[in-house]
Parts: sequence; structure tokens; C-alpha cells
Amino acid sequence: MTDESEDLTRRYRAAMARLPGGVAVLAGRAGGRDVVSVVTSLVSVSLDPPMALVVVHGASRLGETLDVGSRWAATVMGAGSAPAVTWLAEPGRPDLGQLRGVDHDRGETSGAALLAGGTAWIECVTEQVHEAGDHLVVVGRVTQAGRGSADGALVHRLGRVRDLP
Ligand SMILES: Cc1cc2nc3c(=O)[nH]c(=O)nc-3n(C[C@H](O)[C@H](O)[C@H](O)COP(=O)(O)O)c2cc1C
Repeated sequence: MTDESEDLTRRYRAAMARLPGGVAVLAGRAGGRDVVSVVTSLVSVSLDPPMALVVVHGASRLGETLDVGSRWAATVMGAGSAPAVTWLAEPGRPDLGQLRGVDHDRGETSGAALLAGGTAWIECVTEQVHEAGDHLVVVGRVTQAGRGSADGALVHRLGRVRDLP
């Protein structure tokens, strides 16, 4: 990277850090194991049919499991869930038992983990994967959706997560 492009990357990162993002935990399955990641990139795409997208790093463990046809779930995290989110975003978490000690159910249409402490959740099957720079844009058809127990939301801004009542 040249000094100029490094500088742009730094300024771009700082600019985007000012955009508040709703925090979700994305969960898939690989080889019978749960693979999860914290994201702020969950976006609704279409209502008819219901579709959503997430953007994940191409080299992340979850990115490798979201091929076309794969099933996954996203829990929109609620107020009070910062401790679980902080643990799940920890770099170098072990591959095995990623949800050990994290209360969760399993989605009926995906088999993927739905976390306790969420304010809503969706389940999806991947329909399209687009490579974009170092990330993958994963577009899914929504197969089920529902409300969680939390009323408030969890929001990320300027490198911190905080409750939004
Ligand atoms: C609040 C927050 C939001 C994040 N949003 C994204 C995201 O939208 N996409 C992404 O690829 N990684 C995102 N990350 C980073 C991932 O959670 C994770 O640290 C990274 O993908 C590590 O991959 P691994 O599971 O292979 O260790 C976010 C992290 C935090 C704390």
C-alpha cells in the first residue's frame, strides 16, 4: 500500500466509525459446529420476496461458510447484550465451542444459533455471494423471522457498543 492509499484507508475508517450501526450476531454451521461473528453490516434488501444482506470479511471463518445454498441466522442484539458481543468479537476465539457459555436456541429453518438477549432474529439461505474488495456481500432469502425478548437495541459507534433504550 502506498502512503497515500494508507492515508485514505485511515480517513475512510475514521469516517465510517462515526456511522451508528445496529449490532447483530451472524451464525452459520460448518462441519457440525457453530461459527459466529459480530456484524454491523446486516441490511434489509427486499420485502417481496424477503431478502437481507450481510458483508463479511472474505478471510473470516464465517465468510468461508456462507456459500450459495448455505443456511445462517442473524440475531439483532438487544440492550444489555454488550458482554456477549464483546466476547464474540474477540479476535483469536477458539474454533471449537464458540457459543460455550452463551445462551442460545436453534432456528427451525436454518439450524443456526439464535442468541438470547436479542431484540429480533432472521434466518436465511444464501442466494448470491459477490466479492467486493477484501469482503463478501452475501445476499440471503429470508426463511423465518421473529421478535426476541429485549426491547432496546445495541448500537456501535466510534469503536464502542452501547445500549439504545
Ligand atoms: C461492533 C462490531 C461490528 C463488526 N462488523 C463486522 C462486519 O459487518 N463485517 C465483518 O466482516 N466483520 C465485522 N466485525 C469484525 C468481526 O466480528 C470479527 O472480529 C472478524 O470477522 C474476525 O473473524 P474470525 O471469526 O475469523 O476471527 C465487527 C466487529 C465488531 C466488534
